[in-house]
Amino acid sequence: MDAIDAIQRRTSVRRFSRDPVPRETIERLLDAAVRAPNHKLTQPWRFAVLTGGATARLADIRARHRLKRFSDPGSAEASSGAEKVRREALETPAFVIVICAVSPDEITREEDYGSAMMAIENLIIAAESLGLGTYLRTGGIMRDPALADLVGLSEGFRVIGVVSLGYPAEAEVPRRRKAAGELTRWIED
Ligand SMILES: Cc1cc2nc3c(=O)[nH]c(=O)nc-3n(C[C@H](O)[C@H](O)[C@H](O)COP(=O)(O)O)c2cc1C
Repeated sequence: MDAIDAIQRRTSVRRFSRDPVPRETIERLLDAAVRAPNHKLTQPWRFAVLTGGATARLADIRARHRLKRFSDPGSAEASSGAEKVRREALETPAFVIVICAVSPDEITREEDYGSAMMAIENLIIAAESLGLGTYLRTGGIMRDPALADLVGLSEGFRVIGVVSLGYPAEAEVPRRRKAAGELTRWIED
């Protein structure tokens, strides 16, 4: 599959088959991720790959965060919402936690974040080209000390994304976008 096909076909995948993703495949995706453009070659990205029992630890963290969305976290509705998120995480074969350096310099910090996000896009498109599905999530979990502990976050770094990874359980139709033509101005002289 060429890059444009992979980009056009990609959509966020919520449900995965039980098939594990081989380690060598994940390594290929990470090798693609680190090819992202990167000003001054700061290489701000770090990755933690969660599989097996580690996904259960992430499932707990995600379920706990979901409870916070409810005005009454003790309600049946809240626990059913949290259980749904836990199940979804437990059924996800792998997660790539993407970590980025936090430079004391504002411009470098912004450029590093941009680069690390481009690394995520590389990973996601490479995954699509190999028949894998992904789902990028951010949110409050990024700043959770339990996630920092799980991934062994170092001083001067932060988590910027959690990418679910696996073989899609079913074919998904990409979500619609406005046509680029509606959003583009051509300036020729
Ligand atoms: C920076 C970023 C953060 C995102 N965070 C979340 C998130 O926290 N939860 C979520 O459900 N989706 C998240 N998404 C996924 C978007 O919701 C998704 O890309 C969007 O709905 C469009 O769907 P598509 O990816 O299938 O085209 C995030 C996407 C990006 C780029």
